[in-house]
Amino acid sequence: MRIFFTGGSGKAGKHAIQYLLDQGHQVLNVDLKPVDIPGVNTLIADITDSGQMFNAMTSYTWFDELEAGTGVPKFDAVVHFAAVPRILINPDNETFRVNTVGTYNVIEAAVKLEIKKIIIASSETTYGICFSDGQTNPKSLPLEEDYDVDPMDSYGLSKVVNEQTARSFQRRSGVDIYALRIGNVIEPHEYETLFPYYFKHPEVRRRNAFCYIDARDLGQIVDLCLQKDGLGYQVFNAGNDHNGAIIPSKELAERFFPGVPLTRDIKEHEALFSNRKIREVLGFKEQHNWRMYVEGMMKK
Ligand SMILES: NC(=O)c1ccc[n+]([C@@H]2O[C@H](COP(=O)([O-])OP(=O)(O)OC[C@H]3O[C@@H](n4cnc5c(N)ncnc54)[C@H](O)[C@@H]3O)[C@@H](O)[C@H]2O)c1
Repeated sequence: MRIFFTGGSGKAGKHAIQYLLDQGHQVLNVDLKPVDIPGVNTLIADITDSGQMFNAMTSYTWFDELEAGTGVPKFDAVVHFAAVPRILINPDNETFRVNTVGTYNVIEAAVKLEIKKIIIASSETTYGICFSDGQTNPKSLPLEEDYDVDPMDSYGLSKVVNEQTARSFQRRSGVDIYALRIGNVIEPHEYETLFPYYFKHPEVRRRNAFCYIDARDLGQIVDLCLQKDGLGYQVFNAGNDHNGAIIPSKELAERFFPGVPLTRDIKEHEALFSNRKIREVLGFKEQHNWRMYVEGMMKK
């Protein structure tokens, strides 16, 4: 597929793009800064500028597309990752503005240009634990997609608004728009540096509900969304099978979220940030469980 990818120069996007290239897709990266991936051109463009989004979505990806002499080919899909990725990078109002206006612009341009598949990056923070003022408990566990999301911060709120924007445009157009509530993204080199610390201090992962998503497995989830047509508007948690913790799940829940009801039985290490839906609906099979990278090191 010919894919328009925003935010591909960032932490998550560069791995997702590499995964998509490995599956044979062609990708145009659209970002404020370039990415160093062979075979990928970056068009420098700002998602908060609607005109730039419409224009970029009718662009060649590279010089080789000039050769056919048949004009600009159409994009098959838009993957929208560009954002201010958390609070405390910009003032709150700017985080909200860039994320909501940017997402509106990207989805509107894609729908009006009749691109049939749109995937947007939402976030685990919509569940309202991550950037809450004070320690808050979820209403229930595991965290699943039908949860009544209620963040109290500008970033989480921007992602909830983006999900509504996606839902509204889907209803208007009938195209497929899937929102990925992405868990805490872990790059390959981060297992050894971060996880041993997390295991010694599990409390630091409470706000993430102990979730993680391997950046390459996130690429797989994006690709599965590209392949799966006809679902309309969907929200998917994008996380790995297990918690990023060594403590078993029920104990983790009792210790860090006391009194929070479990809505169903959970397996010994099953993620409290549930990925059941991507496994059952999209056929996700994780390739990069943390145990492949950390367990040997823990035994040393
Ligand atoms: N990293 C995580 O743990 C995590 C978790 C949940 C959700 N997410 C979401 O996943 C997506 C990617 O996150 P990331 O960690 O790779 O973030 P990142 O900051 O590393 O990458 C975001 C990219 O967006 C680009 N960008 C920002 N503003 C832009 C604008 N106005 N126009 C064009 N490009 C712009 C940046 O230049 C950057 O390359 C984001 O939507 C983020 O909210 C990330």
